[in-house]
Amino acid sequence: MRVAMIGTGYVGLVSGACFSDFGHVVTCIDKDAGKIERLKAGVMPIFEPGLEALVDSNVQEGRLFFASSREDTARAVREADAVFIAVGTPSRRGDGHADLSYVYAAAEEIAGLVDGFTVVVTKSTVPVGTGDEVESIIRRTRPGTQVAVVSNPEFLREGAAIADFKRPDRVVVGTDDEAAREVMRELYRPLFLNETPIIFTQRRTSELIKYAANAFLAMKITFINEMADLCERVDADVQQVARGIGLDNRIGSKFLHAGPGYGGSCFPKDTLALVRTAEQAGSPMRLIETTVKVNEARKKSMADKIAAAMGGAVQGKTIAILGLTFKPNTDDMRDAPSLEIIPALEAMGATIQAFDPEDHEARRLLPNVRFKDGPYDAAEGADGLVILTEWDRFRALDLARIKDLLKAPLVVDLRNIYTPQDMARRGFTYASVGRP
Ligand SMILES: NC(=O)c1ccc[n+]([C@@H]2O[C@H](COP(=O)([O-])OP(=O)(O)OC[C@H]3O[C@@H](n4cnc5c(N)ncnc54)[C@H](O)[C@@H]3O)[C@@H](O)[C@H]2O)c1
Repeated sequence: MRVAMIGTGYVGLVSGACFSDFGHVVTCIDKDAGKIERLKAGVMPIFEPGLEALVDSNVQEGRLFFASSREDTARAVREADAVFIAVGTPSRRGDGHADLSYVYAAAEEIAGLVDGFTVVVTKSTVPVGTGDEVESIIRRTRPGTQVAVVSNPEFLREGAAIADFKRPDRVVVGTDDEAAREVMRELYRPLFLNETPIIFTQRRTSELIKYAANAFLAMKITFINEMADLCERVDADVQQVARGIGLDNRIGSKFLHAGPGYGGSCFPKDTLALVRTAEQAGSPMRLIETTVKVNEARKKSMADKIAAAMGGAVQGKTIAILGLTFKPNTDDMRDAPSLEIIPALEAMGATIQAFDPEDHEARRLLPNVRFKDGPYDAAEGADGLVILTEWDRFRALDLARIKDLLKAPLVVDLRNIYTPQDMARRGFTYASVGRP
Protein backbone atom coordinates (compact mmCIF):
# COMPACT_ATOMS: atom_id res chain seq x y z
CA MET A 1 0.00 0.00 0.00
CA ARG A 2 1.01 3.59 -0.51
CA VAL A 3 0.49 5.91 2.41
CA ALA A 4 0.73 9.69 2.75
CA MET A 5 0.96 10.94 6.33
CA ILE A 6 -0.02 14.59 6.74
CA GLY A 7 1.71 15.85 9.88
CA THR A 8 5.06 14.42 11.00
CA GLY A 9 4.90 14.97 14.76
CA TYR A 10 4.99 12.33 17.49
CA VAL A 11 2.09 10.42 16.00
CA GLY A 12 2.70 11.01 12.28
CA LEU A 13 6.39 10.13 12.40
CA VAL A 14 5.97 7.05 14.58
CA SER A 15 2.95 5.80 12.60
CA GLY A 16 4.64 6.52 9.27
CA ALA A 17 7.84 4.75 10.31
CA CYS A 18 5.90 1.75 11.64
CA PHE A 19 3.68 1.45 8.55
CA SER A 20 6.82 1.51 6.38
CA ASP A 21 8.28 -1.18 8.62
CA PHE A 22 5.14 -3.24 7.94
CA GLY A 23 6.18 -3.07 4.28
CA HIS A 24 4.09 -0.17 2.99
CA VAL A 25 5.56 2.77 1.08
CA VAL A 26 5.07 5.85 3.21
CA THR A 27 5.67 9.56 2.71
CA CYS A 28 5.63 11.62 5.89
CA ILE A 29 4.65 15.18 5.06
CA ASP A 30 4.97 18.30 7.18
CA LYS A 31 4.56 21.98 6.47
CA ASP A 32 7.52 22.60 8.78
CA ALA A 33 10.18 22.49 6.07
CA GLY A 34 13.03 22.61 8.61
CA LYS A 35 11.73 19.48 10.32
CA ILE A 36 11.56 17.64 6.99
CA GLU A 37 15.05 18.78 6.01
CA ARG A 38 16.42 17.49 9.33
CA LEU A 39 14.62 14.18 8.86
CA LYS A 40 16.08 13.85 5.38
CA ALA A 41 19.49 14.38 6.98
CA GLY A 42 18.73 11.62 9.49
CA VAL A 43 18.12 13.94 12.47
CA MET A 44 15.06 13.05 14.58
CA PRO A 45 12.89 16.03 15.56
CA ILE A 46 11.73 14.28 18.75
CA PHE A 47 13.20 11.93 21.32
CA GLU A 48 11.48 8.55 21.18
CA PRO A 49 13.34 5.33 22.03
CA GLY A 50 14.07 3.20 18.95
CA LEU A 51 12.74 5.75 16.47
CA GLU A 52 15.99 6.76 14.84
CA ALA A 53 16.98 3.18 14.00
CA LEU A 54 13.49 2.41 12.68
CA VAL A 55 13.46 5.51 10.48
CA ASP A 56 17.01 4.88 9.23
CA SER A 57 16.39 1.29 8.22
CA ASN A 58 13.17 2.05 6.37
CA VAL A 59 14.70 5.04 4.57
CA GLN A 60 17.61 2.78 3.55
CA GLU A 61 15.21 0.18 2.21
CA GLY A 62 13.37 2.74 0.13
CA ARG A 63 10.01 2.56 1.87
CA LEU A 64 10.02 5.77 3.93
CA PHE A 65 10.17 9.25 2.40
CA PHE A 66 9.78 12.80 3.69
CA ALA A 67 8.16 15.70 1.91
CA SER A 68 7.43 19.33 2.51
CA SER A 69 7.28 20.99 -0.91
CA ARG A 70 3.98 21.37 -2.72
CA GLU A 71 5.16 19.13 -5.61
CA ASP A 72 6.40 16.29 -3.39
CA THR A 73 3.26 16.48 -1.25
CA ALA A 74 1.06 16.45 -4.36
CA ARG A 75 2.80 13.39 -5.75
CA ALA A 76 2.61 11.48 -2.50
CA VAL A 77 -1.09 12.22 -2.00
CA ARG A 78 -1.97 11.50 -5.62
CA GLU A 79 -0.31 8.09 -5.48
CA ALA A 80 -1.63 7.18 -2.03
CA ASP A 81 -4.18 4.47 -1.27
CA ALA A 82 -4.62 6.05 2.14
CA VAL A 83 -3.92 9.60 3.27
CA PHE A 84 -3.64 9.97 7.05
CA ILE A 85 -4.33 13.20 8.89
CA ALA A 86 -2.00 13.28 11.94
CA VAL A 87 -1.87 17.00 12.65
CA GLY A 88 -2.25 18.58 16.08
CA THR A 89 -5.62 19.20 17.75
CA PRO A 90 -4.62 21.44 20.68
CA SER A 91 -7.03 23.11 23.08
CA ARG A 92 -8.64 26.13 21.48
CA ARG A 93 -7.56 29.21 23.38
CA GLY A 94 -10.31 30.48 25.62
CA ASP A 95 -12.90 27.72 25.54
CA GLY A 96 -11.11 24.36 25.69
CA HIS A 97 -12.78 22.92 22.59
CA ALA A 98 -10.41 20.99 20.32
CA ASP A 99 -8.92 23.40 17.77
CA LEU A 100 -9.71 21.69 14.47
CA SER A 101 -8.22 24.34 12.20
CA TYR A 102 -5.20 22.16 11.31
CA VAL A 103 -7.41 19.17 10.56
CA TYR A 104 -9.72 21.20 8.33
CA ALA A 105 -6.80 22.85 6.53
CA ALA A 106 -5.32 19.41 5.88
CA ALA A 107 -8.69 18.17 4.56
CA GLU A 108 -8.83 21.07 2.09
CA GLU A 109 -5.29 20.41 0.91
CA ILE A 110 -5.99 16.72 0.47
CA ALA A 111 -9.17 17.46 -1.52
CA GLY A 112 -7.15 19.41 -4.05
CA LEU A 113 -4.62 16.62 -4.55
CA VAL A 114 -6.24 13.16 -4.42
CA ASP A 115 -6.56 11.13 -7.56
CA GLY A 116 -8.95 8.19 -7.85
CA PHE A 117 -10.56 6.39 -4.91
CA THR A 118 -8.63 7.34 -1.77
CA VAL A 119 -9.19 6.56 1.86
CA VAL A 120 -8.71 9.63 4.05
CA VAL A 121 -7.97 8.52 7.59
CA THR A 122 -8.20 10.78 10.62
CA LYS A 123 -5.57 9.65 13.10
CA SER A 124 -5.59 12.92 15.03
CA THR A 125 -7.76 12.87 18.14
CA VAL A 126 -10.92 14.67 17.00
CA PRO A 127 -14.33 15.29 18.57
CA VAL A 128 -17.26 13.18 17.52
CA GLY A 129 -18.64 14.42 14.21
CA THR A 130 -15.33 15.75 12.86
CA GLY A 131 -15.19 13.01 10.23
CA ASP A 132 -18.52 14.27 8.85
CA GLU A 133 -17.06 17.77 8.55
CA VAL A 134 -13.83 16.50 6.96
CA GLU A 135 -15.93 14.63 4.41
CA SER A 136 -18.06 17.64 3.59
CA ILE A 137 -14.99 19.91 3.28
CA ILE A 138 -13.50 17.49 0.76
CA ARG A 139 -16.77 17.19 -1.20
CA ARG A 140 -17.27 20.96 -1.15
CA THR A 141 -13.69 21.74 -2.18
CA ARG A 142 -13.63 19.18 -4.95
CA PRO A 143 -17.09 17.92 -5.94
CA GLY A 144 -17.03 14.45 -7.41
CA THR A 145 -13.88 13.24 -5.56
CA GLN A 146 -14.00 9.60 -4.63
CA VAL A 147 -12.99 9.47 -1.01
CA ALA A 148 -14.01 7.54 2.06
CA VAL A 149 -13.28 9.33 5.32
CA VAL A 150 -12.34 6.92 8.09
CA SER A 151 -11.65 7.41 11.78
CA ASN A 152 -8.63 5.50 13.12
CA PRO A 153 -7.61 7.02 16.45
CA GLU A 154 -4.13 6.43 17.76
CA PHE A 155 -3.50 5.02 21.23
CA LEU A 156 0.31 5.01 21.34
CA ARG A 157 2.08 6.26 24.45
CA GLU A 158 5.08 8.51 24.11
CA GLY A 159 8.17 6.74 25.40
CA ALA A 160 6.83 3.35 24.27
CA ALA A 161 5.34 4.53 20.98
CA ILE A 162 6.88 2.01 18.61
CA ALA A 163 5.98 -1.03 20.69
CA ASP A 164 2.49 0.38 21.17
CA PHE A 165 2.01 0.91 17.46
CA LYS A 166 3.33 -2.51 16.50
CA ARG A 167 1.70 -4.45 19.31
CA PRO A 168 -1.38 -2.45 20.23
CA ASP A 169 -4.07 -3.69 22.58
CA ARG A 170 -6.51 -2.98 19.76
CA VAL A 171 -6.97 -1.05 16.54
CA VAL A 172 -10.16 0.95 16.11
CA VAL A 173 -11.48 1.72 12.64
CA GLY A 174 -14.64 3.75 12.11
CA THR A 175 -16.29 3.59 8.70
CA ASP A 176 -19.33 2.21 6.90
CA ASP A 177 -17.50 1.96 3.60
CA GLU A 178 -16.57 -1.61 2.66
CA ALA A 179 -13.80 -0.60 0.22
CA ALA A 180 -12.25 1.59 2.92
CA ARG A 181 -12.48 -1.25 5.40
CA GLU A 182 -10.56 -3.43 2.97
CA VAL A 183 -7.78 -0.83 2.63
CA MET A 184 -7.55 -0.51 6.44
CA ARG A 185 -7.42 -4.29 6.82
CA GLU A 186 -4.56 -4.42 4.33
CA LEU A 187 -2.68 -1.62 6.10
CA TYR A 188 -2.89 -3.36 9.45
CA ARG A 189 -2.52 -6.89 8.06
CA PRO A 190 0.77 -7.58 9.93
CA LEU A 191 -1.15 -7.16 13.18
CA PHE A 192 -3.55 -9.95 12.25
CA LEU A 193 -0.62 -12.34 12.67
CA ASN A 194 -0.41 -11.61 16.38
CA GLU A 195 -4.19 -11.56 16.61
CA THR A 196 -4.57 -7.92 17.55
CA PRO A 197 -8.29 -7.20 17.98
CA ILE A 198 -9.44 -4.84 15.24
CA ILE A 199 -12.70 -3.12 16.04
CA PHE A 200 -14.65 -2.03 13.00
CA THR A 201 -17.34 0.39 13.99
CA GLN A 202 -19.19 3.53 12.94
CA ARG A 203 -17.10 6.65 12.44
CA ARG A 204 -18.71 8.63 15.26
CA THR A 205 -18.35 5.75 17.69
CA SER A 206 -14.69 5.39 16.80
CA GLU A 207 -14.08 9.10 17.40
CA LEU A 208 -15.70 8.84 20.80
CA ILE A 209 -13.77 5.69 21.79
CA LYS A 210 -10.54 7.69 21.79
CA TYR A 211 -11.90 10.37 24.14
CA ALA A 212 -13.58 7.78 26.34
CA ALA A 213 -10.26 5.93 26.71
CA ASN A 214 -8.25 9.02 27.60
CA ALA A 215 -10.90 10.42 29.92
CA PHE A 216 -11.21 7.10 31.74
CA LEU A 217 -7.44 6.85 32.26
CA ALA A 218 -7.22 10.47 33.41
CA MET A 219 -10.04 9.76 35.87
CA LYS A 220 -8.27 6.64 37.14
CA ILE A 221 -5.08 8.61 37.83
CA THR A 222 -7.07 11.35 39.51
CA PHE A 223 -8.88 8.80 41.65
CA ILE A 224 -5.65 7.38 43.04
CA ASN A 225 -4.25 10.89 43.53
CA GLU A 226 -7.21 11.83 45.71
CA MET A 227 -6.87 8.50 47.50
CA ALA A 228 -3.22 9.45 48.16
CA ASP A 229 -4.34 12.70 49.80
CA LEU A 230 -6.68 10.73 52.03
CA CYS A 231 -3.90 8.26 52.87
CA GLU A 232 -1.71 11.14 54.01
CA ARG A 233 -4.45 12.29 56.38
CA VAL A 234 -5.25 8.88 57.87
CA ASP A 235 -1.77 7.34 57.94
CA ALA A 236 -2.33 4.74 55.23
CA ASP A 237 -0.18 3.75 52.25
CA VAL A 238 -1.56 4.55 48.79
CA GLN A 239 0.79 2.10 47.09
CA GLN A 240 -0.64 -0.74 49.13
CA VAL A 241 -4.14 0.53 48.42
CA ALA A 242 -3.33 0.61 44.68
CA ARG A 243 -1.95 -2.92 44.82
CA GLY A 244 -4.88 -4.11 46.87
CA ILE A 245 -7.39 -2.84 44.35
CA GLY A 246 -5.27 -3.29 41.22
CA LEU A 247 -5.10 -7.06 41.64
CA ASP A 248 -8.86 -7.10 41.15
CA ASN A 249 -9.17 -7.82 37.43
CA ARG A 250 -12.19 -5.59 37.17
CA ILE A 251 -9.98 -2.66 38.20
CA GLY A 252 -6.50 -3.55 36.90
CA SER A 253 -3.18 -2.27 38.23
CA LYS A 254 -2.26 0.20 35.48
CA PHE A 255 -2.63 3.95 35.95
CA LEU A 256 -2.87 3.63 39.70
CA HIS A 257 0.38 5.42 40.55
CA ALA A 258 -0.17 8.48 42.68
CA GLY A 259 1.87 11.50 41.66
CA PRO A 260 1.81 15.22 40.97
CA GLY A 261 -1.16 15.10 38.55
CA TYR A 262 -1.37 14.07 34.91
CA GLY A 263 0.11 16.20 32.14
CA GLY A 264 1.27 15.60 28.60
CA SER A 265 0.04 16.32 25.14
CA CYS A 266 -3.19 14.32 25.40
CA PHE A 267 -5.00 13.92 28.73
CA PRO A 268 -5.35 17.61 29.65
CA LYS A 269 -6.62 18.73 26.27
CA ASP A 270 -8.70 15.62 25.57
CA THR A 271 -10.52 15.62 28.91
CA LEU A 272 -11.34 19.29 28.42
CA ALA A 273 -12.51 18.76 24.85
CA LEU A 274 -14.75 15.87 25.94
CA VAL A 275 -16.28 18.07 28.63
CA ARG A 276 -17.06 20.69 25.97
CA THR A 277 -18.48 18.14 23.53
CA ALA A 278 -20.70 16.72 26.28
CA GLU A 279 -21.92 20.18 27.29
CA GLN A 280 -22.71 21.03 23.70
CA ALA A 281 -24.62 17.80 23.26
CA GLY A 282 -26.66 18.58 26.38
CA SER A 283 -25.26 15.56 28.22
CA PRO A 284 -22.72 16.92 30.70
CA MET A 285 -20.02 14.56 31.99
CA ARG A 286 -19.63 15.61 35.59
CA LEU A 287 -17.05 12.96 36.44
CA ILE A 288 -14.73 14.32 33.77
CA GLU A 289 -15.47 17.95 34.64
CA THR A 290 -14.37 17.14 38.19
CA THR A 291 -11.36 15.20 37.01
CA VAL A 292 -10.16 18.25 35.08
CA LYS A 293 -10.63 20.56 38.07
CA VAL A 294 -9.06 18.19 40.59
CA ASN A 295 -6.04 17.63 38.39
CA GLU A 296 -5.46 21.33 37.75
CA ALA A 297 -5.66 22.08 41.46
CA ARG A 298 -3.34 19.18 42.21
CA LYS A 299 -0.56 20.41 39.94
CA LYS A 300 -0.79 23.83 41.58
CA SER A 301 -0.79 22.37 45.10
CA MET A 302 2.45 20.49 44.53
CA ALA A 303 4.50 23.67 44.96
CA ASP A 304 2.94 24.10 48.41
CA LYS A 305 3.68 20.48 49.23
CA ILE A 306 7.34 21.02 48.34
CA ALA A 307 7.48 24.26 50.33
CA ALA A 308 5.88 22.55 53.34
CA ALA A 309 8.47 19.76 53.19
CA MET A 310 11.18 22.42 53.16
CA GLY A 311 9.96 23.95 56.37
CA GLY A 312 7.17 26.17 55.08
CA ALA A 313 9.04 28.84 53.14
CA VAL A 314 11.38 28.57 50.18
CA GLN A 315 12.31 32.25 49.91
CA GLY A 316 16.03 32.44 49.17
CA LYS A 317 16.38 28.66 48.99
CA THR A 318 17.80 26.63 46.13
CA ILE A 319 15.80 23.60 45.06
CA ALA A 320 17.22 20.81 42.92
CA ILE A 321 14.67 19.26 40.58
CA LEU A 322 15.15 15.97 38.76
CA GLY A 323 12.94 15.43 35.71
CA LEU A 324 10.99 18.10 33.83
CA THR A 325 9.23 16.26 30.99
CA PHE A 326 5.68 15.10 31.68
CA LYS A 327 6.89 11.51 31.87
CA PRO A 328 10.11 9.56 31.30
CA ASN A 329 11.49 8.62 27.88
CA THR A 330 10.09 11.58 26.03
CA ASP A 331 11.18 15.17 25.46
CA ASP A 332 7.54 16.30 25.41
CA MET A 333 6.87 19.19 27.78
CA ARG A 334 3.25 19.86 26.81
CA ASP A 335 1.25 20.51 30.00
CA ALA A 336 4.02 18.95 32.12
CA PRO A 337 3.46 19.40 35.88
CA SER A 338 6.93 21.02 36.01
CA LEU A 339 5.53 23.98 34.08
CA GLU A 340 3.11 24.71 36.95
CA ILE A 341 5.31 23.72 39.85
CA ILE A 342 8.56 25.48 38.95
CA PRO A 343 7.13 28.96 38.24
CA ALA A 344 5.11 28.69 41.47
CA LEU A 345 8.27 27.88 43.47
CA GLU A 346 10.10 30.71 41.71
CA ALA A 347 7.27 33.07 42.61
CA MET A 348 7.77 32.03 46.25
CA GLY A 349 11.38 33.18 45.98
CA ALA A 350 13.17 29.88 45.30
CA THR A 351 15.96 29.35 42.82
CA ILE A 352 15.65 26.17 40.77
CA GLN A 353 18.53 24.10 39.48
CA ALA A 354 17.33 21.18 37.42
CA PHE A 355 18.37 18.21 35.38
CA ASP A 356 16.40 16.33 32.74
CA PRO A 357 18.01 13.92 30.24
CA GLU A 358 15.98 15.52 27.40
CA ASP A 359 15.90 19.15 28.39
CA HIS A 360 16.04 21.06 25.11
CA GLU A 361 12.35 22.03 25.14
CA ALA A 362 12.43 22.66 28.90
CA ARG A 363 15.28 25.14 28.44
CA ARG A 364 13.06 27.17 26.15
CA LEU A 365 10.01 27.03 28.43
CA LEU A 366 11.67 27.56 31.81
CA PRO A 367 14.08 30.44 31.21
CA ASN A 368 14.88 31.13 34.88
CA VAL A 369 15.97 27.60 35.72
CA ARG A 370 19.67 26.81 36.04
CA PHE A 371 20.07 23.71 33.87
CA LYS A 372 22.59 21.14 35.07
CA ASP A 373 24.36 18.26 33.36
CA GLY A 374 23.37 15.48 35.69
CA PRO A 375 21.53 14.64 38.91
CA TYR A 376 24.59 15.20 41.09
CA ASP A 377 25.32 18.59 39.53
CA ALA A 378 21.72 19.53 40.22
CA ALA A 379 21.93 18.42 43.85
CA GLU A 380 25.14 20.31 44.59
CA GLY A 381 24.58 23.09 47.11
CA ALA A 382 20.77 22.81 47.03
CA ASP A 383 18.58 23.02 50.13
CA GLY A 384 16.57 20.02 49.02
CA LEU A 385 15.96 17.71 46.07
CA VAL A 386 12.64 17.06 44.31
CA ILE A 387 12.00 14.08 42.03
CA LEU A 388 9.41 15.20 39.51
CA THR A 389 9.72 12.71 36.64
CA GLU A 390 10.72 9.10 37.20
CA TRP A 391 13.41 8.63 34.55
CA ASP A 392 15.10 5.25 35.12
CA ARG A 393 18.42 6.91 35.89
CA PHE A 394 16.88 8.55 38.97
CA ARG A 395 15.79 5.20 40.41
CA ALA A 396 19.23 4.11 41.54
CA LEU A 397 20.95 7.32 42.57
CA ASP A 398 24.04 7.16 44.75
CA LEU A 399 22.15 8.49 47.75
CA ALA A 400 25.22 8.88 49.95
CA ARG A 401 26.68 11.16 47.31
CA ILE A 402 23.40 13.08 46.98
CA LYS A 403 23.36 13.53 50.76
CA ASP A 404 26.90 14.91 50.74
CA LEU A 405 26.14 17.32 47.92
CA LEU A 406 22.91 18.73 49.38
CA LYS A 407 23.06 21.44 52.04
CA ALA A 408 20.35 19.56 53.94
CA PRO A 409 19.39 15.88 53.48
CA LEU A 410 15.89 16.54 52.21
CA VAL A 411 14.16 14.69 49.35
CA VAL A 412 10.64 15.24 48.06
CA ASP A 413 9.76 12.28 45.87
CA LEU A 414 6.61 13.05 43.88
CA ARG A 415 6.80 9.68 42.05
CA ASN A 416 7.33 7.38 45.03
CA ILE A 417 10.43 5.75 43.54
CA TYR A 418 12.16 5.41 46.92
CA THR A 419 10.74 4.01 50.14
CA PRO A 420 10.20 6.03 53.31
CA GLN A 421 11.89 3.37 55.48
CA ASP A 422 15.03 3.21 53.37
CA MET A 423 15.32 6.98 53.08
CA ALA A 424 14.91 7.38 56.84
CA ARG A 425 17.57 4.74 57.43
CA ARG A 426 19.92 6.70 55.19
CA GLY A 427 19.30 9.82 57.22
CA PHE A 428 17.10 11.75 54.83
CA THR A 429 14.09 13.83 55.65
CA TYR A 430 11.80 12.36 53.02
CA ALA A 431 8.36 13.31 51.73
CA SER A 432 6.47 11.33 49.11
CA VAL A 433 2.90 10.94 47.88
CA GLY A 434 0.27 9.18 49.96
CA ARG A 435 2.59 7.18 52.19
CA PRO A 436 3.11 7.33 55.95
N1 LIG B 1 1.44 12.64 21.15
C1 LIG B 1 0.78 11.57 21.51
O1 LIG B 1 1.21 10.81 22.38
C2 LIG B 1 -0.55 11.22 20.88
C3 LIG B 1 -1.09 9.96 21.08
C4 LIG B 1 -2.31 9.65 20.48
C5 LIG B 1 -2.95 10.61 19.72
N2 LIG B 1 -2.42 11.84 19.56
C6 LIG B 1 -3.12 12.80 18.71
O2 LIG B 1 -2.48 12.84 17.45
C7 LIG B 1 -2.53 14.17 16.91
C8 LIG B 1 -1.14 14.66 16.60
O3 LIG B 1 -0.43 14.76 17.82
P1 LIG B 1 1.15 14.95 17.86
O4 LIG B 1 1.55 14.87 19.28
O5 LIG B 1 1.79 14.07 16.86
O6 LIG B 1 1.26 16.49 17.35
P2 LIG B 1 2.57 17.30 16.92
O7 LIG B 1 2.29 18.70 17.26
O8 LIG B 1 3.79 16.63 17.47
O9 LIG B 1 2.64 17.13 15.34
C9 LIG B 1 1.75 17.70 14.45
C10 LIG B 1 2.52 18.04 13.18
O10 LIG B 1 1.59 18.36 12.14
C11 LIG B 1 2.17 19.36 11.32
N3 LIG B 1 1.11 19.99 10.52
C12 LIG B 1 0.06 20.74 10.94
N4 LIG B 1 -0.73 21.06 9.90
C13 LIG B 1 -0.17 20.51 8.79
C14 LIG B 1 -0.52 20.47 7.41
N5 LIG B 1 -1.62 21.08 6.95
N6 LIG B 1 0.27 19.81 6.56
C15 LIG B 1 1.38 19.19 7.00
N7 LIG B 1 1.76 19.18 8.30
C16 LIG B 1 0.99 19.82 9.18
C17 LIG B 1 2.88 20.26 12.32
O11 LIG B 1 3.86 21.06 11.70
C18 LIG B 1 3.45 19.24 13.30
O12 LIG B 1 4.76 18.85 12.92
C19 LIG B 1 -3.28 15.00 17.94
O13 LIG B 1 -4.64 15.04 17.60
C20 LIG B 1 -3.08 14.22 19.22
O14 LIG B 1 -4.13 14.44 20.13
C21 LIG B 1 -1.22 12.16 20.11
